[in-house]
Amino acid sequence: MAYTMPRIKFVAGNWKMHGNLASNLALLTAVRSGAASLGGQVAVCVPYPYLAQAQALLAGSNVAWGAQDVSEHAQGAYTGEVSAAMLNDFGCRYAIVGHSERRSFYGDTDTVVAAKFMAALKAGLTPILCVGETLAEREAGITAEVVIRQMEAVMAVAGMAALGEAVVAYEPVWAIGTGKTATPAQAQEVHAMIRARVARDDAAVAEGLQILYGGSVKPSNARELFGQPDIDGGLIGGASLVADDFLGICAAG
Ligand code: 13P
Repeated sequence: MAYTMPRIKFVAGNWKMHGNLASNLALLTAVRSGAASLGGQVAVCVPYPYLAQAQALLAGSNVAWGAQDVSEHAQGAYTGEVSAAMLNDFGCRYAIVGHSERRSFYGDTDTVVAAKFMAALKAGLTPILCVGETLAEREAGITAEVVIRQMEAVMAVAGMAALGEAVVAYEPVWAIGTGKTATPAQAQEVHAMIRARVARDDAAVAEGLQILYGGSVKPSNARELFGQPDIDGGLIGGASLVADDFLGICAAG
């Protein structure tokens, strides 16, 4: 697909369940200063207890902060859950929804993911919607079917205008934390397929949609991945815990 102008690369770090006040201080301070000269959009998605620390250390910088999940409910008797409005209170801009670890370990179905997506949007957050196939699904030749099903579950509930407000991340489950990165061609194929599916319903939304790749992205493979026409940035796990690696990936955009 030919674009009239390159998209601004968006690189988000997903810390998962890592960090403590002391290590976060060093990491956030380094990312804040290292990202100052980067033109791209950068965000870090931190564990809930550290949102306040991210708010304090990143305010006024060009690094946004986000959460790794959000409740599908607006408020009420949901012990342990965190609402999108609470996240918004912190100046939190992003919430990851549908990460494969939530889907596989915590039972987040397509329906729940769509509800979380809507809850985030309604509270003024930008959802980062994760989709991706397992190794067994890839080997069974149903990657396209799985990813399109995950996309359509949200498209049906949210509508195309809402999808246009979001960020999508393609994260093949077999590439997450395994060191096995999808080849640029494999990733591009799925990204193009996602964009084509969105274009069937709304060409303008498809053209503007930021589709990130996630799964063992490192400074050494980021440039080639981000150079693919339909890869608009990355969602970075392990490498986002090392400031130089994360900033190296951001710079590759
Ligand atoms: P890794 O970069 O550690 O493979 O994790 C990817 C991921 O799950 C980001 O959300």
